[in-house]
Amino acid sequence: MTLVVANIGRLYTMQSAPDNPLGVIEDAELHLEGDRVLFAGPRQHAPSITASEILNADGRAVMPGMVDCHTHTLFAGDRAGEFALRSKGATYAQILEAGGGIVNTMRAVRAASEDELTDLCADRLMAMARRGVCAVEVKSGYGLDVENELKSLRAIARAKERTGLDVVATCLAAHAVPPEYQGRTDDYVTLVCDEILPAVADANLATFCDVFIEQGAFDLAQGRRVLERAKALGFLLRVHAEQLSWQGGAKLAAELFATSVSHLEFCTDEDIAALKDAGVCVEVLAGAQVFLGMEQRIPGAKFEQAGLTVAVGSDFNPGSAHISDLALCAGLAVTMAGLSAEAALLGITRAGGLALARPELGRLARGTKGHAVVLDAETIWPLVYEWGAPHARQVIVGGRLLRR
Ligand code: NIG
Ligand code: FE
Repeated sequence: MTLVVANIGRLYTMQSAPDNPLGVIEDAELHLEGDRVLFAGPRQHAPSITASEILNADGRAVMPGMVDCHTHTLFAGDRAGEFALRSKGATYAQILEAGGGIVNTMRAVRAASEDELTDLCADRLMAMARRGVCAVEVKSGYGLDVENELKSLRAIARAKERTGLDVVATCLAAHAVPPEYQGRTDDYVTLVCDEILPAVADANLATFCDVFIEQGAFDLAQGRRVLERAKALGFLLRVHAEQLSWQGGAKLAAELFATSVSHLEFCTDEDIAALKDAGVCVEVLAGAQVFLGMEQRIPGAKFEQAGLTVAVGSDFNPGSAHISDLALCAGLAVTMAGLSAEAALLGITRAGGLALARPELGRLARGTKGHAVVLDAETIWPLVYEWGAPHARQVIVGGRLLRR
């Protein structure tokens, strides 16, 4: 199966060069064979091949399938009631500490069957794919016991199978303390370390382990226990850090050579230097910052100046960021977190792939993954500029045209 995308006005390969950060090639062709890119370059250099299908881009822009490096897409129920409470002055942290928030969604997830969770997750993933997102990280973290974390991760695996998207699973058992462990956080951490993570590793259900280091969730010492155990079990690491207050999670991520660290509203210059030294990617989640109405802003411009790998994710979840429009999140990362437009666009493509330890995602070159989007425009700029528009005219997932 060879798919040729012809007549591309501008091909955004995301193969950055100093004078061409988005790797733009004008008058280009894209050839896909199987699920891989065979050729991405100027039309006059394209090899002549027999295509099983030709897609005429008619002068439009083409980009890699987008990568959403941070989501909590596996959830049931909703938290509209908490949104209304926050509109009257309650804070996210107060709701969490009062036993609401994440634990509310936990109740809905525990009550749902694996089939129901699979349907919910797969439907949400397909809605994202229709908008050009072809790779998505999905976290567990609303099960909070052995049985329900495994059920959640199995549902994520089945949703991956059903949709054919590049889904990367993360075990976030250390997301909140479940009610049965209220006041006994250390005992819950022991359950995570001694039972949940080993069971997830045995069943090979997650690539990454994540932890929420925050007041009302897990402190630094507890975060360290989880991450060190996870590392020993062979998981790659990611960390939710310095979102609502400074706790030291970013430095811990650097010390343990985590793949990425997310949120970072309250991180310091020293944290940024430590992340840079350790090669940890940062995930800018401007959708969450805005959804929670945070005054403290993510220091995106500083990340860029420091030369960090800056990914942009949606953080799609029912509590702190009910938003799955990744292009809109990139636009918000520009205006609300200080990223340059180019960095935001790289953040939802190439850097997103790096934040998932999947460098073959989010860029177009021989051998990379065959995910691509024909945009409804001649340039890529509407992605960050025309907020809420659908943008994607045609989406190619693993070398195949997504039929609507
Ligand atoms: O990334 N911060 C912790 N976890 C999520 C929120 C999850 C929820 O509220 O359900 C986040 O913001
Ligand atoms: Fe999150």
